[in-house]
Amino acid sequence: MADPKQPAPSQDNVNPGTARLQIGNEVFDLPIRRDSIGDARIVDITGLFQRAGVMTYDVGYTSTAGTESAITYIDGDKGILLYRGYPIEEIANGSYMETAYLLLKGELPTSEQLKAFEADIVSRMPVHEQLLSILDRHKRDTHPMALVSSMVTDLSGFHSDIDTSKPEGRYEVALNLIAKIPTIVAAAQRYSQGKPVIRPSSQLGYSENFLRMCFADASGHYVQNDVLTKAMDRVFILHADHEQNASTSTVRLAGSTGTEPYAALSAGVAALWGPAHGGANEAVLKMLKGIGTVDKIPEFIAAVKVKGGETKLMGFGHRVYKNFDPRANIIKADCDSVLAGLGVSNPLLEVAKELERIALSDPYFKDRKLYPNVDFYSGIILSAMKFPVQMFTPLFALARTSGWIAQWQEMVNAPKLTIGRPRQNYTGPEQRPYPAIETRGPNGDSARGTLTGGVDAPKRATDVA
Ligand code: CMC
Repeated sequence: MADPKQPAPSQDNVNPGTARLQIGNEVFDLPIRRDSIGDARIVDITGLFQRAGVMTYDVGYTSTAGTESAITYIDGDKGILLYRGYPIEEIANGSYMETAYLLLKGELPTSEQLKAFEADIVSRMPVHEQLLSILDRHKRDTHPMALVSSMVTDLSGFHSDIDTSKPEGRYEVALNLIAKIPTIVAAAQRYSQGKPVIRPSSQLGYSENFLRMCFADASGHYVQNDVLTKAMDRVFILHADHEQNASTSTVRLAGSTGTEPYAALSAGVAALWGPAHGGANEAVLKMLKGIGTVDKIPEFIAAVKVKGGETKLMGFGHRVYKNFDPRANIIKADCDSVLAGLGVSNPLLEVAKELERIALSDPYFKDRKLYPNVDFYSGIILSAMKFPVQMFTPLFALARTSGWIAQWQEMVNAPKLTIGRPRQNYTGPEQRPYPAIETRGPNGDSARGTLTGGVDAPKRATDVA
């Protein structure tokens, strides 16, 4: 989007499909790429360093596309999210199995294809008993994200017979991961609760199976509830993919080295855990509980607005959405219907709605274009479904597995796999002699000589004039 404070670009004879970079007297013409929809312009700097010794600097990759992808499209200004071209509002009325099929294969299944796909997935849901025994090595109160991450990596040992050098083998890995992650996540929940692990049933669908593995009694008895199953499926659909977010980029970066796909996925689980990303759903519920009642909201909002303060309005803000997150709108509406369907109430829903109302009318949030994201309301639904708060992020990981592995598959099936390797703007010491240990001062400097670099060394990082 054009910045009104910046001078308009000069209208010389530059080809509209070309960007011109001028450094001193040197001029470099760079091709401009376009998305298949929308009006974003992507300046292709591939090879610029080799050609011209020039790098770009973009902390947090706010203006950098690291890959092509045909899976998910977001227009953050308009609040649009498409999976393979289909709006999230419409896809959310289908099933998670349909979404997983779409993400992996690019097109929606027929009803026969969907049935066969789900049957294939369900048949792969059991995991090796030895994988489950890994749990016993962990402390009971280990965060379930750590348990999930360990078990996902360890899957590689149980499926080393699959040849991932061929697309068919990669697809099989994708099916395995989508199938086994519910079993792993449910096992992590039950281990944390000190309950025996429940194995999947070949008689149930994907989400029903998962809910049974989480909530059945020790003998495996579980009463199905359609409201719960539908709500679970919707949560999974809404979290399934979100283009090149931090965890997906982590999966791609790890996968670009040719590592085991299970290990790449596990890296994604680790990246998702952080409160700025998938860990936000857990943080939101803790925040809402901390606020407690509607009358405490103004005090909380005031703390968020303190410059340099530590309090954040969790579940608000997004790197890409600068309007609203369409997933948040869907989940907010689902909160009312799911709570009513389950016959439960949650006073935190009132706190959340009022918090949203107050924040959206406050200039601090309006000026910074901060809106509720998917995590703001999801915790209310997951609590109503009786998931422990620590399970919120593992549930996100379960759902995102289809997106992660679809993105991995897209990357490794491309004609060329390029290892991801960002460059840096070095700000450390200049080259200096290595001093003998007995000559070093308390700050690591040498008694014999002066530092030529270190914290006081002249830095050129900001020399951008
Ligand atoms: N509460 C208060 N202030 C905020 C918040 C927030 N949640 N988010 C951003 N800001 C402020 C930030 O302090 C900065 O203010 P200033 O310009 O005065 O320094 C301004 O808004 C711009 O923020 P930013 O940190 O530069 O934005 P970002 O794109 O780097 O970060 C974010 C995006 C999602 C990490 C951030 O908004 C955040 O931490 N939100 C809370 C955590 C959260 O809900 N995460 C879930 C994201 S959606 C699920 C997913 O896809 O993982």
